[in-house]
Amino acid sequence: MRYKLDEIDSTNKFILSLSKETPQPEGTLVSAEYQTDGKGQIGRYWHSEKGKNLLCSILLKPSFLNPEEQFVMSQMIALALKEVIGQYTTEKVSIKWPNDLYINDDKVCGILIQNQLKGKFISKTIIGFGLNVNQADFPQQLPNPTSLFQQTGQVFDREAILQEICDRLEHYYLLFKSGRLIEINERYHEVLFRKDQVCQFRENKTSIFEGVIIGIGEYGKLRVKTIDEVRLFDFREIEMIL
Ligand code: BTN
Repeated sequence: MRYKLDEIDSTNKFILSLSKETPQPEGTLVSAEYQTDGKGQIGRYWHSEKGKNLLCSILLKPSFLNPEEQFVMSQMIALALKEVIGQYTTEKVSIKWPNDLYINDDKVCGILIQNQLKGKFISKTIIGFGLNVNQADFPQQLPNPTSLFQQTGQVFDREAILQEICDRLEHYYLLFKSGRLIEINERYHEVLFRKDQVCQFRENKTSIFEGVIIGIGEYGKLRVKTIDEVRLFDFREIEMIL
């Protein structure tokens, strides 16, 4: 099922309330030209100029997925997006943990995943993503946005890009369903932003320390090697200073 909307508060919210009213098939896709209340991570707002970008949510029903393993959902969509973005630019595309897509040091795409549990398992996953495609300028207050247009000077067919993203996501979802989680995890590590490099981090919005990202640990936590230990961080606990 495909819903192409002109304007909505948030595609994630739309698909969630729609699927509560009437069950929607797995793979249902909602896209919008504009969001009046686009949701970003940690309660942030997602900015996107009308009619320029991709604002989409996809409904999956990974009923066999344990909540402890849910990071694989982030990995799959981030990898799908990484590969498609990489076809449109010769610059370096990477996944900034947990699931931002970067072109060099600038953010081109954000992902917001919302899960619904039924007992011990995940009944619904809503994968929302905002990919900056044809937007030329961004508000000053955004830290480091970019778009495919800014990178290349070209205007792209958003529907064609969306089709490719869906195809790549399906590829990873099939890998996941056939139990090939290790391959997904390995691939994710290969394209992880600043992996094995010394970086500065801000912990709990206060103290600053140096460390090296060595990978992803349990529950999708970031593994950082500092001078004297290896530490694991949750998304809310740490911020990379670019
Ligand atoms: C982030 O903060 O990086 C995540 C941004 C996610 C934005 C997308 S746009 C489509 C979908 N609907 C929303 O309300 N948010 C996501």
